[in-house]
Amino acid sequence: MSHKIKTICCIGAGYVGGPTMAVIAKKCPHIQVMVVDINHERISRWNDHNLCNLPIYEPGLKEIIEKCRGKNLHFSTDIESNIAAADMIFISVNTPTKVKGLGAGHAIDLKWIDASARQIAKYAKGYTIIVEKSTLPVKTAETIKQILESSHQNMVIKEESKKAFSVLSNPEFLAEGSAINDLENPDRVLIGGNDNNAIASLTEIYSNWVNREKIITTDLWSSELSKLIANAFLAQRISSINSISALCESTGADINNVALAIGSDKRIGKYFLQSGPGFGGSCFRKDILNLVYICKHYGLKEVAAYWQQVIDINNWQQKRISNIIIEKLFGTISGKKIGILGFSFKANTNDTRDSPSIHICKELIEEGGCLAIYDPKVIPEQIEIDLSIKQTKSKKDSEGSWYFSRSVLDSAKDADALLIITEWDEFKKLNWEEISNAMRPPSWLFDTRGITNIYEARKNGINTWRVGN
Ligand code: NAD
Ligand code: UGA
Repeated sequence: MSHKIKTICCIGAGYVGGPTMAVIAKKCPHIQVMVVDINHERISRWNDHNLCNLPIYEPGLKEIIEKCRGKNLHFSTDIESNIAAADMIFISVNTPTKVKGLGAGHAIDLKWIDASARQIAKYAKGYTIIVEKSTLPVKTAETIKQILESSHQNMVIKEESKKAFSVLSNPEFLAEGSAINDLENPDRVLIGGNDNNAIASLTEIYSNWVNREKIITTDLWSSELSKLIANAFLAQRISSINSISALCESTGADINNVALAIGSDKRIGKYFLQSGPGFGGSCFRKDILNLVYICKHYGLKEVAAYWQQVIDINNWQQKRISNIIIEKLFGTISGKKIGILGFSFKANTNDTRDSPSIHICKELIEEGGCLAIYDPKVIPEQIEIDLSIKQTKSKKDSEGSWYFSRSVLDSAKDADALLIITEWDEFKKLNWEEISNAMRPPSWLFDTRGITNIYEARKNGINTWRVGN
């Protein structure tokens, strides 16, 4: 028998917690959804009256916030009382790669998960279902259970405040930029656990909008592992197509034609075959590094080496692109202006975590380039943090520098090269005549996403390079 869920608390108001809870609130008006975070600034932006100030840009998100916020969707820093009031708690905190200590550079840093479990153990009341939403190494549910159990064994519990917990794994498969659509129309919802009543409670929530056939239930460990493997397989396709983009450039084949030809085979499928500047985002790299770490831990060194290659090709592709730019600009970019179009790791998000732009821009700055960076959604303060270099005040000829540009045309003005790194729609239909007139000849276009009409650019006197072409 399922437990009726009236109040949900989500720990972590980030790129997953925020949109996921917004969609649950929209689809389940009978449930109160409380999203809590230790980051006060983030919560106050979720509560901002001006919906343009939400901490996350996602198409369709602000409409849901407008509809549900203050009714059955609330954002708060009051972690204690919201945990206490919840029938079900989602843990949606960050799980980055460890930067120091055992497993540094590969293993996941579980300190935020550990802290969340301890908060729950301390403040939860009565029976509570704990749902792992964060992506976690296999068997983390065991750690969470141990923290929950040991903490209440150590307490003198009055009968009426007795605590009990069930832990479920319910990994999230949304992609940024299409998060709302992915949440509203998921390919599948995965629930792992060994408590059938708890599974039934979570299934009931999703059944408000997801067809039951799409709700897969499984054991805890398979659920946790499936999330890592889904990301590893997706990233593997990108490294595969990027490796072939280099072969196309050497042989005269065209990567788009190859992708179309192979993707038409149902067994291969047409998605995730777009070659580009390498994958970015907060998850692919860290999840594969974690997979490599787990394989090594279990003595599977050949399997670990296999998946490590997915990361190695990704790094190689980014380095390859910056080398090509330097080579085409006569072996030196010192003091040359390069317009950078796009800083987020993909279109339709303001997220820059592990964006290919960061790696490529750092290389170009290191080589003395003067970058004019334009992105429709990323703010200059974020770029400053990501590059760890302050932007210059003057726009001219400062070797090894960058400044924030307000438009494509501003980036192109007097530039030796334009470099497209993010596939924003705005960059798909540029006025090449205007751009060519603004640039300093001999000018170059480097299209790492293969999204522009390079023939138009060429017709207007710009030299072009397109990935895989
Ligand atoms: P995020 O950094 O955007 O958000 C995490 C939030 O948790 C932060 O705001 C942080 O302040 C908060 N937090 C950390 N510890 C806390 C605590 N003890 N109490 C309250 N708040 C706390 O991260 P994200 O991108 O939302 O990712 C969260 C998890 O979801 C990760 O495990 C990630 O791998 C996974 N995931 C992410 C995506 C994605 O597209 N970003 C997709 C699927 C899964
Ligand atoms: C990815 C997965 O797609 C989600 O299913 C998963 O939930 C999420 O990671 C996660 O666990 O965080 P996300 O990183 O948001 O989602 O975005 P993707 O669309 O997967 O793109 C990742 C990177 O690969 C981007 O840099 C993108 O530009 C690049 N990419 C994607 C390509 O270069 N080519 C493609 O064909 C597809």
